[in-house]
Amino acid sequence: MPAAAAKPPPSSLFPYLILLSILLLFLYSSLLSPPTAKTLSFHSTPCNLFSGKWVLQHPSTHKSLYNETCPFQRNAWNCLRNQRPNMGTINSYKWVPETCDLPRINPVKFLSLMRNKNIGFVGDSLNENFIVSFLCVLRAADSGAKKWKRKGAWRGGYFPKFNVTVAYHRAVLLANYRWQPKQSSVGEEEGVEGVYRVDVDIPAVDWANITKFYDVLIFNTGHWWGFDKFPKDRPLVFYRAGKPINPPLEMMDGLKVVLENMVSLIEKEVPSKTLKFWRLQSPRHFYGGEWNQNGSCLFDKPLQGEQLDLWFDPSNNGVNKEARQLNLLIQEALQGTSIQVLDLTHLSEFRADAHPAIWLGKKDAVAVWGQDCMHWCLPGVPDTWVDILSELIRNSFETRQ
Ligand SMILES: *[C@@H]1O[C@H](CO)[C@@H](O)[C@H](O)[C@H]1NC(C)=O
Ligand SMILES: *[C@@H]1O[C@H](CO)[C@@H](O)[C@H](O)[C@H]1NC(C)=O
Ligand SMILES: *[C@@H]1O[C@H](CO)[C@@H](O)[C@H](O)[C@H]1NC(C)=O
Ligand SMILES: *[C@@H]1O[C@H](CO)[C@@H](O)[C@H](O)[C@H]1NC(C)=O
Repeated sequence: MPAAAAKPPPSSLFPYLILLSILLLFLYSSLLSPPTAKTLSFHSTPCNLFSGKWVLQHPSTHKSLYNETCPFQRNAWNCLRNQRPNMGTINSYKWVPETCDLPRINPVKFLSLMRNKNIGFVGDSLNENFIVSFLCVLRAADSGAKKWKRKGAWRGGYFPKFNVTVAYHRAVLLANYRWQPKQSSVGEEEGVEGVYRVDVDIPAVDWANITKFYDVLIFNTGHWWGFDKFPKDRPLVFYRAGKPINPPLEMMDGLKVVLENMVSLIEKEVPSKTLKFWRLQSPRHFYGGEWNQNGSCLFDKPLQGEQLDLWFDPSNNGVNKEARQLNLLIQEALQGTSIQVLDLTHLSEFRADAHPAIWLGKKDAVAVWGQDCMHWCLPGVPDTWVDILSELIRNSFETRQ
């Protein structure tokens, strides 16, 4: 005879006692667990990592994985070495997505997952900023990391413990472009010294032949598409199939055509098993003027959410409007493709406090170049980009297996 059957029947109070204790347990546990501790699995519930807020943490709970001694550091972004004050505070803000927790990358686990695989970045110096952070973070798992500059890479690292290469190919417009001095046959316009010829259908040589080497590729282009890089007397002139496009395209229309061509080339040429990302614009934070008009970013805390539109909405016509403008063109070009959008713009918009500003490591740099309110201090905001990218890579490779 089962033991339970021998017990006396429960009193009528018994069910209520059970209910009460369940209720108390529930209240107790929900009081104890902090709201951000919930990590939602990607496999069950997709979480938008790009939408959330920055929350100041105690420095001991939100540590950088590297410092100024990282051999991959670039002087101008090495704010610790350049003695920017308050770097501890700058790096104590944690990005907290609305519906889940974004964990800090675990470099050992990540590199183990990536064993015998390679990650390539293609684009401008903001992607270089990104990869320097990535290299320094990953080095925490393999101190034998070596600099790697083969196959046309501008900068990179090899992690021998895991046989992983992470490298950056500089291609600021993505398409091939070259300087053509004024000749009798070109540059007929008055006052033009020459032109930059952009072949909209030809990728820059720096990355044209390397896409098959990589298992993950992260593209970007953006801040070179402006008149400070290509002024009216040295304009971009767009060519297709070796001939000038007629009528000539304005810069933004040229960008549109380049994006269309590069995106369709990536779709065609890059193996379908390669994981492809396109990083949206990194916002600039010049306050009070452009970079060459004493624009500055000496802020000691992130912007508030309600300030962002004032800074970045194109309808306010401010100096920092171009990130959102370019994003519209890029998103349009990416629609319906296999390239994932890495929308790091919004989270970065808050961080007016995290650029190198005047701490550039060279005495005359500010006098010559102005403050740097475009790139980011390292360690800094790109470490969060790394956390997000690695999470998305991890999710893709894990669900694939
Ligand atoms: C910087 O990081 C290295 C490890 O990469 C560590 O050995 C060193 O103690 C750190 N230095 C400081 C000042 O924290
Ligand atoms: C390292 O990875 C490459 C692929 O990137 C592979 O071809 C090569 O065989 C690997 N080497 C070793 C020693 O596993
Ligand atoms: C890329 O590869 C193609 C075909 O293999 C070759 O014709 C071309 O010269 C290569 N370009 C570069 C820049 O190496
Ligand atoms: C920038 O500041 C310097 C020094 O205060 C001043 O001489 C110069 O005129 C300013 N430039 C602009 C464009 O405002």
